[in-house]
Amino acid sequence: MKGMAATVVDKLKGHKPEVLIDKLGERLAYERTGVRLYEPLITKVGAASSGPLVDLAMLTKIRDDERAHFELVGDALRSIGADPTAMTPCADIAGVAATGHLQVITDPRTTVPQALNSILMIELGDNAGWDLLIELARGSGHEVLASQFEVALKTEQEHLALVQGWLKQAVLDEGT
Ligand SMILES: [Fe+2]
Ligand SMILES: [Fe+2]
Repeated sequence: MKGMAATVVDKLKGHKPEVLIDKLGERLAYERTGVRLYEPLITKVGAASSGPLVDLAMLTKIRDDERAHFELVGDALRSIGADPTAMTPCADIAGVAATGHLQVITDPRTTVPQALNSILMIELGDNAGWDLLIELARGSGHEVLASQFEVALKTEQEHLALVQGWLKQAVLDEGT
């Protein structure tokens, strides 16, 4: 009985699609911002005189992944009858929150490790964001979307490991 009651509650939660739409809107904004953050990072890394610390080809691949994720979320919104061009509250906040990182990365005076530190925070948020979205999609009965989002999360885990590795190497090279 307890299990049944829980299922009913889950179904009821699924009847508030605006929460899923808001978080999908946030993901859409975040992934688009991801592309905008990786562009100047690629430029910064390309212009850096120090050794081949960061793999430019990998960096470009990550940027393309973020773009693919943006498209995936846009398709997801359309599949549930929502408008991907509509600004949701969480999407708006995601944009505001990212402006500091954008400033850090685009500032020509910041170093590659400083920019990597910003992108690390973005990737941490990226991973947590997809993780939550998977739970929300599954909990509201969107199993197909949840499975697609799991593939995206795997990619984000790779991003995180790469960025964390680059930052660690950069800081250890500098400080030890
Ligand atoms: Fe992402
Ligand atoms: Fe990412």
